[in-house]
Amino acid sequence: MSRLVSAKEMLTKARDGKYAVAQININNLEWTKAAVLTAQELNSPIILGVSEGAGKYMTGFKTVTAMTSAMLDELNITVPVALHLDHGTYEGAKKCIEAGFSSIMFDGSHYPIDENVEKTTELVKICNEKGLSLEAEVGSIGGEEDGVIGNGECADPDECKRIADLGVTMLAAGIGNIHGKYPENWPGLSFETLAAVKDKVGDMPLVLHGGTGIPEDQIKKAISLGVAKINVNTECQWAFQEATRKYIEAGKDKEGKGFDPRKLLAPGFEAIKATVKEKLTLFGSVNKA
Ligand code: 13P
Repeated sequence: MSRLVSAKEMLTKARDGKYAVAQININNLEWTKAAVLTAQELNSPIILGVSEGAGKYMTGFKTVTAMTSAMLDELNITVPVALHLDHGTYEGAKKCIEAGFSSIMFDGSHYPIDENVEKTTELVKICNEKGLSLEAEVGSIGGEEDGVIGNGECADPDECKRIADLGVTMLAAGIGNIHGKYPENWPGLSFETLAAVKDKVGDMPLVLHGGTGIPEDQIKKAISLGVAKINVNTECQWAFQEATRKYIEAGKDKEGKGFDPRKLLAPGFEAIKATVKEKLTLFGSVNKA
């Protein structure tokens, strides 16, 4: 029996309790272990995000499910953990459902709205039957992810309502957020759009992508306006990179058994843990497991 859970309950609680659950994107064993151990230490729920590219890197979605599921058992993780496809294609969503993911994002934001509605409708039915949570997207999130570049659009609140009414678990609506580094001249999140979307979709938990580099006050305001899930990817990668660079620049890989991957990857692992801890604390999910 897998310990992986749907994200539905954790998001409903987050929405009601006015905090957000972090989605931390994973790339390998170290990332996964860092994320779940930190969540357990802080008694917080967590969502592990897997992009299609990361899934491929880890040799396929089945490997990801098997590794994560076994890890939760071996580490005796008792806080709620969801394994979630990030920005899935229609085909990718089906593969992840088959592979045992507990949560799916279908990103139909690049389709005309009618096609997004049609494909999302089908996935709502499948996910409901299997007890999985489903995230949909309206208004593409800017920046680059797996080679897809968006412009940081603001979603149309009426289109958000159309998708929310299909019965998805959570909705990602573009509010000027982008993946990766924010440019110097970024005008900030559009709280006007967020409020207008919230007004149309009512109780639907909203998802904020591009969590890296959004100032703390904007994160807090977004949560107060209905955001219940925030995705973070790039910031963990930067933390890992910086710590690994320092280790090598200090020549530690040349000292004794410093070349051993278990030693070489340790500073990066600790840096991911510290970043995850910072996010869970900022988002308010500590002790909400
Ligand atoms: P960042 O890489 O900007 O943190 O965005 C992560 C994300 O939104 C994944 O879907």
